[in-house]
Amino acid sequence: MSDRIDSSGASPASGAPISAAPLEPTGAPGASDPSARPTLLSLTGVGRRYGARWVLRDLSLAIASGERVALLGESGSGKSTLLNLIAGLEPADTGEIRIGGRAVHGLDPDQAAQLRSTELGFVFQAFHLIGHLNLAQNVAVPLLLQGMARRPALERAGALLARVGLADRHASLPRELSGGEQQRVALARALVHRPRLVLADEPTGNLDAASAGRAIELLRDEIAASGAALLMVTHSQQAAAACDRRLTLDASGLRDLA
Ligand SMILES: Nc1ncnc2c1ncn2[C@@H]1O[C@H](COP(=O)(O)OP(=O)(O)OP(=O)(O)O)[C@@H](O)[C@H]1O
Ligand SMILES: [Mg+2]
Repeated sequence: MSDRIDSSGASPASGAPISAAPLEPTGAPGASDPSARPTLLSLTGVGRRYGARWVLRDLSLAIASGERVALLGESGSGKSTLLNLIAGLEPADTGEIRIGGRAVHGLDPDQAAQLRSTELGFVFQAFHLIGHLNLAQNVAVPLLLQGMARRPALERAGALLARVGLADRHASLPRELSGGEQQRVALARALVHRPRLVLADEPTGNLDAASAGRAIELLRDEIAASGAALLMVTHSQQAAAACDRRLTLDASGLRDLA
């Protein structure tokens, strides 16, 4: 993967500068009813095809600030593709995607990278840590991209590494970590800049029950503190139960589960 990275862990398409952005929470922490809060993410009629094969068809969805939503579905149903579309990592073939009212579907690659670096935290199924940076530097990347000075950025990164049980591993390189440890670093990086929307693709998939519990607790705490929204792909009952809503994706589309 490229040496350059945006806060989501995805490589921007070009070298466009990424401006500093404030870190104030933009949601409404403390409000108890997510449905009473403004819509943060909206999808209308979203579809995606590869060649002649439609993987996603006519999906519509609204997620409010502060809301935690679990996305379930069989392997190959299109969950990762859906997260990629929301993050602007690949284009939708039909429909509209808006984050905070701003259209994602019309952004060019540089604008999409800018949106990811300021608004989104993305935990990739394959982690995408930067191989030549140590763990603290990896987690600090979104803050450094936003213009934060190195020392406070590394301090906040260190605090999050401690929350995922890696307090003594700041100086390690990703290749020295197990899969589950890399996953915890990816989670810390997705939360470090207090994004408005966290997209997490099976963030507990490689973790034992105790580590998964801590990861879910971290997600809950950070989201409660910042008023962010969470869309989390998961096969874990434990992770799904920690969310406000559970959705399932299959060939007929998105459905709310009880
Ligand atoms: N770039 C691509 N070109 C062609 N087909 C693709 C591409 N990316 C994904 N697909 C196909 O789209 C379908 C959905 O893939 P996706 O990765 O979104 O599934 P998923 O629900 O995340 O599965 P899993 O639970 O296994 O991670 C799959 O059948 C996959 O083969
Ligand atoms: Mg997937």
